[in-house]
Amino acid sequence: MRIPTVGFEFGVLLQAMGVLGLLGVPARAAIPACLKTVELSCLNLAANCIDTVNSGAVNNLWGIKSCVAAATCYGVGDLITSVECQTGFTVTNAAQSSLDYTTIYAGIVGSCAFASGGCSITQQNYVDFYYGELTAVSSSNFPSSTAVVIALWNAIVAWAATGSTVPYLNFNDWLHFSSFPSTTTTTAPPIASYTEIYWNPNPAPPSGAVSETFVQSSTTVIIAIPTTTTTVVIGGASITLAPGGTPINGPLPSDPNIIPPTSVASVTFTAPPSFTTIVPVPAASNSPPKNITGPPGDKNSNGDDWWLLLFPGIIAGLLPLDIGIIGGIKPTPGLPPGWTGPWTDPDPTTTISASASGSPSGSSCPRPTSVYALSDDSENADWEDNGDDPDRRRNTLVARASPRFITLPICGISKQNGNVVTNPSAVSLGAGTYYSIGLKAAGGVNTVLNSIAVGGRPVGNGPATVNQEHVFELGYIKQFFEALNGNGIPCTWILDNVYNRAGWDGATPWALSLLLDIDQVVNMVWVDKPLNQAKSNVVNQDKQTAADPPQRSNMNNIADVTPGGTSVNLIQDVEYFARNFAALGGYFGATAATFRATALRVQNRLAQITPDTPAVNLPVQFNNWLRGLAATYPAGCTSRANNVFNYYANKMTTEANLGNNGVVPQCFPLYHTGNFIPPAPTLPLCNIPGTQGKIHFGQDPGGNPELSFSTFRILGSGRTDFYALGLGADFAGEHFIAEDLTTLYSACSGVWAIGVSSTAVPASTDAFLAMDCAGQTGNQVTTPITFVVNDQVLDCVTINSELQGTAGITIYIICAGSNAAATTCGNGILQTDPQGHFLTGTLQFVPT
Ligand SMILES: *[C@@H]1O[C@H](CO)[C@@H](O)[C@H](O)[C@H]1NC(C)=O
Repeated sequence: MRIPTVGFEFGVLLQAMGVLGLLGVPARAAIPACLKTVELSCLNLAANCIDTVNSGAVNNLWGIKSCVAAATCYGVGDLITSVECQTGFTVTNAAQSSLDYTTIYAGIVGSCAFASGGCSITQQNYVDFYYGELTAVSSSNFPSSTAVVIALWNAIVAWAATGSTVPYLNFNDWLHFSSFPSTTTTTAPPIASYTEIYWNPNPAPPSGAVSETFVQSSTTVIIAIPTTTTTVVIGGASITLAPGGTPINGPLPSDPNIIPPTSVASVTFTAPPSFTTIVPVPAASNSPPKNITGPPGDKNSNGDDWWLLLFPGIIAGLLPLDIGIIGGIKPTPGLPPGWTGPWTDPDPTTTISASASGSPSGSSCPRPTSVYALSDDSENADWEDNGDDPDRRRNTLVARASPRFITLPICGISKQNGNVVTNPSAVSLGAGTYYSIGLKAAGGVNTVLNSIAVGGRPVGNGPATVNQEHVFELGYIKQFFEALNGNGIPCTWILDNVYNRAGWDGATPWALSLLLDIDQVVNMVWVDKPLNQAKSNVVNQDKQTAADPPQRSNMNNIADVTPGGTSVNLIQDVEYFARNFAALGGYFGATAATFRATALRVQNRLAQITPDTPAVNLPVQFNNWLRGLAATYPAGCTSRANNVFNYYANKMTTEANLGNNGVVPQCFPLYHTGNFIPPAPTLPLCNIPGTQGKIHFGQDPGGNPELSFSTFRILGSGRTDFYALGLGADFAGEHFIAEDLTTLYSACSGVWAIGVSSTAVPASTDAFLAMDCAGQTGNQVTTPITFVVNDQVLDCVTINSELQGTAGITIYIICAGSNAAATTCGNGILQTDPQGHFLTGTLQFVPT
């Protein structure tokens, strides 16, 4: 028998190319890391089995033909372990339904199955079944000889001890009892540690691999590394492989191309000296690709003068070396994350195929390809003592889900003492809601949380990066009773009346009922691991200072800010964590109804309890306690998110000063985006919107102040630098505007007249108010004012026209970039208005 290893997966790359299903679709193909190392025909049966189980049927493995066939070569216990790993469900052999007689057993033995007394499985029946099932799952691999299959059968015959054939009941027994838990030791070498490849521009199986795994959203195909040119068809896509297993055509580019910017409607290709072509991105996955040619004579390394742009902005074919893409990124090929086997860099040159003219073509920012790897803060790692419920898979890929429990260590109920209150069943979330800010691989600075319905554990950011989590935490029970104890309720009271006291059914202790009220799938959601970590900080009320923020110790390990440096994955993880923390408030908001419903179940449960002595009114106290707790959450989210960001930014700046001339590369966008808190407004601190007052226009020639007849109001303008001024209730009403005088008076080019008008004024725009509070606050401050037009703070003069209007004398406010320009214009106006004259002194706002 050959000694194979599972080598390679192309699936995520295919998905990223829009050829196959979306990430996060519920039914997903076999996770290679969940498969053990076996002979390839068997591996295809097992892969098909777990592809199928994944869409439901965890307790009906023996109703699936490929599972029955796989069990015979892969081992019952190991197959169940793989199903658990794949689905995240707890699967027991005991819970499996019996082998399906009609469709599977009869299919093995033939029509004699329905004869009186039935019939047993012969060796020939089994061999036919095994090969038939390989054909049925379209395996490209078959055993090296029938001797391999006969040896499998002999092991079953020996176990059943029913002679040379095996009857239904004994075969069914073998499926249920032969090897669970697994007692056989495997002699195969351990599987290479494996994780999915998010971006590997030219996947090349590592040397020494004997198989490659192709994954489509619900199909897995495993082949031996081909020695001749071979085509794999999976989910309608054909991938042609060169000898050795490297794709040479099809949807996979055979060389790293520049990746166009995401979410653009068109892609701009450039080449020196002046070639530019703007190509619309095909609108849908079934739109025809756009066929593009570069400048005349321009060829790629295959000698072609064309390449394709596919939906949703993917280049197929090779770009000629002088072609650039504006805003594009040149991916840096990286070791597949988690891969510990040999690997050959498919693109050893890291130079960028930038155009000689220097037009923007790409950057060498590394894509965030590694699986998210920040460990839990040590404060939260000790979850067993908290009785709260991180997904058991949070830290390890293969741990089995186990029943959850609650504790109360201060009253002696702890893991250590072996007396925790445990749910007799393990509750696992399958179909549910998945909250995510998006994949880490997408990069960027998004902090907006989205929710989608999923049919099972989402792929997320790779293995063990999506957690099932309780919205209303199990740990709250401990926290509540700790709080009661802190308020003088003794442990004996809590234990005698709640933890150990049987409820109305005379059997179930109240503490277990409380646990069961919480540990339900309706109270569970899927979340990305960093969101779960962030929530732990808030719920456990730890890491709350700026000097000791969440993930401090991991952030302390940042040592190199260069894009190709040793800290790049860590920095990308920290940015993703910080963005998840910023989304935590949104998570609490989005799950509030679930939280409330679960809290209500707990409160109603507490209302059932009659203690021996009336020391505390349990449901009333619970409600008070929960109100106080929840009130700390909003600030707890915001302050910690900002503390994480600030600590991170300081650390990056420090390291950049030490090692990179003070420069943090643009590759780390969150650093450059700044804090989650928007920049502080630069608005005046006196006479805030709503303040009313008059305008003081200046003094007349006799030295008398000219005040406006109308009372104006300071208005919120929608800007955070200037208010506005008007007569209406708010900025939507009548307010100061600026009328361009350029074409009205020859002396007034670039000069504005500022005033209110109840009718539309041609060539006008909003005028904002610049007001100097001179350090004073309050709303009774007489301040100098001027106006802001098109973001320019202007200098103004005022003219009294001496023209009697309906509401008083008409006064003009004339503003320009300089006092001289405003004065020149004012003189021009006065030539048409001999009675008018300038006012002297300062334009002011005078609160009334
Ligand atoms: C793209 O266009 C060129 C001619 O400019 C042609 O030779 C080539 O076959 C086309 N490719 C595809 C895939 O349509």
